[in-house]
Amino acid sequence: MPGFEIFGDQEKKEVMDVLDTGVLFRYGFDNARKGHWKAKTLEQKLCEKTNAKYAHLCSSGTAALSIALAACGIGAGDEVIVPPLTFVATFEAVINIGAIPVFSEIDETLCLDPDKLINVVTSKTKAVIPVHMCGAMAHIDKIKDFCSKKGLILIEDACQAVGGTFKGKSLGTFGDIGCFSFDAVKTITCGEGGAIITDSRELYEKADQYADHGHDHVGGADRGADDHPILGMNYRISELNAAVGVAQINKLDKIIKIQKKNKQAIKHEIAKFSDISFRKIPDENGDTSTFLSFFLENEERARNVAEKFAENGVTGAPYWFDNKWHYFKQWHHLKQLNAASKLPLELFKNTPDYNTVFLPQSDEIMKKTISIQIMLSWKDNEIKDRINRIKKVLKG
Ligand SMILES: Cc1ncc(COP(=O)(O)O)c(C=O)c1O
Repeated sequence: MPGFEIFGDQEKKEVMDVLDTGVLFRYGFDNARKGHWKAKTLEQKLCEKTNAKYAHLCSSGTAALSIALAACGIGAGDEVIVPPLTFVATFEAVINIGAIPVFSEIDETLCLDPDKLINVVTSKTKAVIPVHMCGAMAHIDKIKDFCSKKGLILIEDACQAVGGTFKGKSLGTFGDIGCFSFDAVKTITCGEGGAIITDSRELYEKADQYADHGHDHVGGADRGADDHPILGMNYRISELNAAVGVAQINKLDKIIKIQKKNKQAIKHEIAKFSDISFRKIPDENGDTSTFLSFFLENEERARNVAEKFAENGVTGAPYWFDNKWHYFKQWHHLKQLNAASKLPLELFKNTPDYNTVFLPQSDEIMKKTISIQIMLSWKDNEIKDRINRIKKVLKG
């Protein structure tokens, strides 16, 4: 799955370009940088890849979500609908901006269930953030329709799904803004990095300003000449990180091709077991194939298989239901609103107490779900060995 598996000469060359100039900052130093603009280059490449009009690179996927929320004007007391299966960053970004995460059910896509969104909409709902989980898409067309009908902002958390598409259109381009992560374990990596993409000039400008202390970036090489139309933060990426990403994005198609092949080899064998069904993927062609996720008959069987996978060396096979970082059930810090800073608790007082939030449909699905992470570096004999181990466990 991660781009770090195929680091090579291209990454070294791009990084050396930066080190040779000594310019690690993405803005200014026009002469010293000898024509190397790695962050800008990666933004252009992202636009080409996704067909988005604008891209802004930033320091992480979490930063991308925070920037997206800010650019869309979401803040104090607004409610934002999010799924209970994601990485904690999705709701952290919402809280960070002063808004309230509201959890809605997932369906067998392992992403937000479009038909259940209506149950959690209130007069304070401002946005929906579907997460294209484990490399594949939500029912993004239906979620988009819902947001359009209800006048809600749509921000796609495509942090785990760079390069993914739905009916040929890039994930991240369905909503007002799409967010990507290029952290160390993502499909392509900058070490740390992220990006927002959008077709809106206005949102892009807000994002570009917010991510750099409000700089309007019209002063050219003289940053001091920039004005600051809005309050911002520092979510900038360094040229060194961006340089790694420039090399990696050139490999994205190859990475996805390998993932698809490796995933299909395992899926083909698992499909022979009659008590197993697969995660629903609304458009298989657009799956980036970072994970193979499947459902067992019930919780007991799924727990047993997960345990046996661990005992039999089937590594990278999470049982998400018990996972501390990716499923609502274990987010005790959120349930207790344990923040380092003082949260504006009065804003939370009219929203559901997270201790009492009940997501029966999501629980039922997650109890039965196991995912297998797909690696790029597996050789044919390693895939065969893995298949044998998986089959041994499934046979019981
Ligand atoms: C769904 C999702 N959203 C957001 C993030 C945050 O990305 P980053 O680690 O780059 O901050 C992640 C990272 O794992 C993620 O999986």
